[in-house]
Amino acid sequence: MNEDFLCEVKPLEIKTSREITVAVMGAGSRGNEYTAYGKLYPGTMRVVAVADTDAARRDAMGDRWGVPSERRFGDFREMLAAGRGGKLADVMIVALPDALHYEPAMEAMRQGYDILLEKPMAQTAQECMDLLARQRETGVMVAVGHVLRYAPYFRALKKALDAGVVGEIVSIQHQEPVMYAHMAHSFVRGNWHDSKATTPMILAKTCHDLDILKWLVGRRCVRVSAEGGIALFRADKAPAGATARCTDGCPHEGRCPYSAIDIYERKRWFLYVFDLAKDCPSAAIMDRLRTTDYGRCVYRMDNDQPDHIVATLLFEGGATASFTMDAFTPWGGRRTRVMGTLGYIEGDGKTFTMHRFDTGKSQVWSFVPPEGEKYKDSGHAGGDLALMRDFLQAVDTRDFSLLSSSLEASVESHLMGFACERSRLSGTKETLC
Ligand SMILES: NC(=O)c1ccc[n+]([C@@H]2O[C@H](COP(=O)([O-])OP(=O)(O)OC[C@H]3O[C@@H](n4cnc5c(N)ncnc54)[C@H](O)[C@@H]3O)[C@@H](O)[C@H]2O)c1
Repeated sequence: MNEDFLCEVKPLEIKTSREITVAVMGAGSRGNEYTAYGKLYPGTMRVVAVADTDAARRDAMGDRWGVPSERRFGDFREMLAAGRGGKLADVMIVALPDALHYEPAMEAMRQGYDILLEKPMAQTAQECMDLLARQRETGVMVAVGHVLRYAPYFRALKKALDAGVVGEIVSIQHQEPVMYAHMAHSFVRGNWHDSKATTPMILAKTCHDLDILKWLVGRRCVRVSAEGGIALFRADKAPAGATARCTDGCPHEGRCPYSAIDIYERKRWFLYVFDLAKDCPSAAIMDRLRTTDYGRCVYRMDNDQPDHIVATLLFEGGATASFTMDAFTPWGGRRTRVMGTLGYIEGDGKTFTMHRFDTGKSQVWSFVPPEGEKYKDSGHAGGDLALMRDFLQAVDTRDFSLLSSSLEASVESHLMGFACERSRLSGTKETLC
């Protein structure tokens, strides 16, 4: 087996024929992640307008890019209103919270922007279909933030499967291990704790996984079913005497793995959510824990997101996939096993091993960034900046085929997510037509 072709990694750096101008909605974590591309590769893109209701974030991005004050907006609707007299930029990045994707994307398409739209693209299946209809009507380009499709690891895995390394795909086992503290941070205390205000866990966290599975199999998903629920993060599981906040002198603080003091103050994890640096004074963190949801007891939140999900997927032609989302793991990093008629692949998000049944040989693929490459600066195993690269190149050349996470492809995997959620809640098998 010689699979050297799998090692070709597309460089992150591209040259564009002009500096592509970017209007950013949401100067938070994702807005900054994507626009970092233009600082790493000057001349490719420039932020020329920014909207964020948080003045500090808005100005931090505005100052970094020299955005004039009249192009710094609070609510995203102000930016859309300003765009009615003519586009403010070539492209728009929509990196707002989940509930604020549909409205700006619909209007931005109407105004003629090409868009990088964060996932999940919308909160209902109908809204996803509306977005697709608007995109077809306007002919603009929309890339959805399914960054894993652009990460070198998943690209190589896809290439291996398309090249027939395992023969015909028969079944896949795929796990998204969320990691216990990340679950508590994002989906119990944090931005995504309420599925109705955002999106259900299967979309909020794992629409990437459904999308990757569909992409790897390369066929339409025709039926899904799902189970799961909240095993731990609910009031009846609270240890006796647990206080409303970890900072209220809770008798379990010090032993509880979900202690906010332990996660944020002692371990100093996830401090980006407070816009604090790792070496900030302890008092700054403790202040946030006393005043925000991030200091509340994980057993006394208003959360409704499941901490475990298992889903089965059936694809056209008969291939199946089983998928689990598991909160209770010590690490993150997706694990995938692909079983085919001629071989087997097992991977952990960084490295995968291919076994062939005919030769009995095995080969390992692991990511070696090309000389001088800045993949280490990119989240999601390189996928974040690689998506930005392909998006800018697609806008520059009008070659939509550079975007594997097109709106059309992404609608399909979102519909799988909504169907899984219906199945989980009602115990049905859901057919996708
Ligand atoms: N592609 C991925 O892998 C990935 C990873 C994480 C998050 N996401 C998604 O990206 C989106 C953004 O997530 P994030 O982590 O960057 O969140 P964030 O909270 O860091 O950033 C969102 C920003 O939007 C601003 N905002 C809120 N309401 C606004 C309004 N009405 N007008 C203007 N600005 C407003 C907030 O002040 C905030 O700065 C979410 O939908 C999330 O689910 C995608």
